[in-house]
Amino acid sequence: MEHAVAQTSKVAGISRAPPRFGDRAQALAAAKAFDLRKLPAGYYANPYPTYHALRDAGPVHRLPDGGYFLSGYAACVAVYKDARAFSSDKKREFAPKYGEGLLFEHHTTSLVFNDPPLHTRVRKIIAGAFTPRSILDMEQPVTALVDGLLDAIEAKGSADLIADLAAAVPIEVIGNLLAVPREEREPLRAWSLAILGALEPTLTAEQQAHGEKAVADFAAYLKTLVDRRRARPGDPERDVLTRLIQGEQGGERLSERELLHNIIFILNAGHETTTNLVGNGLYALLEWPEEKARLLRQPELIRTAVEEFLRFESPNQLGNRLTVAPVAVAGLAIPAGTYLTIGIGAANRDPEEFPDPDRLDIARDPNRHLAFGSGPHVCIGLNVARLEGRIAIGRFLARFPRYALSGDAVRGGRARFRGFLSIPVTLD
Ligand code: HEM
Repeated sequence: MEHAVAQTSKVAGISRAPPRFGDRAQALAAAKAFDLRKLPAGYYANPYPTYHALRDAGPVHRLPDGGYFLSGYAACVAVYKDARAFSSDKKREFAPKYGEGLLFEHHTTSLVFNDPPLHTRVRKIIAGAFTPRSILDMEQPVTALVDGLLDAIEAKGSADLIADLAAAVPIEVIGNLLAVPREEREPLRAWSLAILGALEPTLTAEQQAHGEKAVADFAAYLKTLVDRRRARPGDPERDVLTRLIQGEQGGERLSERELLHNIIFILNAGHETTTNLVGNGLYALLEWPEEKARLLRQPELIRTAVEEFLRFESPNQLGNRLTVAPVAVAGLAIPAGTYLTIGIGAANRDPEEFPDPDRLDIARDPNRHLAFGSGPHVCIGLNVARLEGRIAIGRFLARFPRYALSGDAVRGGRARFRGFLSIPVTLD
């Protein structure tokens, strides 16, 4: 593996990355040495040889800190499905990591890092707020938004697929979903990146301070938005924020603290992940010109293509759970109080579930990937993300079928969120 580990590693050219190590000894050594806190050279550019090496050695791998990394599909699904044995509650892990600040308050109040009964109650209200009507309403404005971005790209004559398209779509879509006034959206993306950046396995003091300030600024802004919406509610069938404020009809409501932190979470959950779906998808098509040609010939394959991009280069590569009692995972006895990392990106390349897993097949069916997780915490915004991916990727490709890399694509260099910071392209 040739690249040095760096916060930002460059991918030169567009040659397809080798999915496996050259020889068995190298693979065995990589599996043996694997440590999430000290990721091997080349991992950020191409984690798949490491994932295959780990899985070949067994679906569950013990980490030097006593935790386990799951690389087998069946083991990951089993853990996702059993929320009783495998907890999402992060208080124990985040207390020493963040201390008592706002990052701790935020991450331990958002539904994704909670167990029943809080999770069940909050999820019901949030899932109920994403009404079929509110999703249906998105098709036309997202199409118009994407077409406007494509007009600007055409006028410019070249593009950065991230800045000019992939990052511009989600912020607008979630902004629309919550009806955040357009002129107030500018800081949302930076807040979101700072808060999510603080979830990386290791954290610098600077990242932490940045994250703390982002939560404070974000919550202060949202308080004003919520107060305004309370004074002038929107149509609860269409406006997700009004629905979140009002809670279930005649039933439960979120407390002020739950409301603010979960709105932050929704805004964050849909940003970088969806940016990465669009960026990774368009990049994968450059690596696989035959699949690009196939999608151009058969644009109706866009739905299965989006599922395949989600599987092939999952925007969110890692999930976490904590065992609450002694359990067995893939036949291995694991004591209570053990941290598990669910290798979403690894599971999505497991040949036991996906034939020829390192091949991009835009018509792959079935494709039960774990990009959105699974079980009680499965992504609430999955249909929003699919819609954005379908429209952004489909319309870009139809309009600029000959797009090609014009310089180095720059990867984000993070283990959990896999994507690019920039992908410069020419249009013809
Ligand atoms: C390609 C884009 C996306 C990906 C890859 C993604 C991935 C995920 C994953 C893996 C989980 C499960 C976490 C766990 O079980 O620990 C999750 C949960 C969640 N996602 Fe997404 N997501 C995406 C887009 C979105 C969007 C657009 C929204 C909102 C508009 C959203 C809202 C949520 C929420 C609220 C949860 C928490 C559900 C719960 O804990 O019950 N996501 N997402």
